[in-house]
Amino acid sequence: MKALVVYYSLTGKTKLVSQVIAEALNATLVEIKEAKPRKLGPLVYLFGGFAAITNRGSKINPINVDLKQHETIFIGSPTWGSRPAPAINSFIYKTNFEGRSIIPFFTMGGDNSEKALANITAKIERSQGKVAGSFAIKSYEVSDEEIIVRTKEAIKKYSG
Ligand SMILES: Cc1cc2nc3c(=O)[nH]c(=O)nc-3n(C[C@H](O)[C@H](O)[C@H](O)COP(=O)(O)O)c2cc1C
Repeated sequence: MKALVVYYSLTGKTKLVSQVIAEALNATLVEIKEAKPRKLGPLVYLFGGFAAITNRGSKINPINVDLKQHETIFIGSPTWGSRPAPAINSFIYKTNFEGRSIIPFFTMGGDNSEKALANITAKIERSQGKVAGSFAIKSYEVSDEEIIVRTKEAIKKYSG
């Protein structure tokens, strides 16, 4: 059964990681978009950061994918305030994963993904998902080429 990669990305780093995963595992790739796209700038930190630390969702466009066709689902998010982005919260809150294997992953500016992974794991479990792995990729001052290399390394154990 094909794996599924669902992600949200504001500045392209989580998108890059998601594309690498989808290509390496021949997985279906689905981008979550906010109904009202954010403009880059300080307000993203203020409003986006606040929404993230208070575990809020945001309005997202519907996605067209049958989760029943996918046993393994990778869920990718940027780290916002040590938590998932609001668009990913919305996707998780809305979805019943029905015991599927979920592998959350983050991209992040810093080095510490523990808090974000614990937060998203609890949310996935509340939506009946089984967390079967996780990883995080640092994006700040790391070239796209290096991000690609680190992603391939991180997903080795999920192929085959
Ligand atoms: C609102 C906001 C909050 C952020 N908070 C964190 C944080 O708490 N920890 C961290 O390591 N990086 C943080 N970052 C950096 C992003 O996680 C990082 O740049 C990420 O790779 C961006 O992914 P994207 O390009 O897919 O949007 C934050 C970025 C934004 C915009």
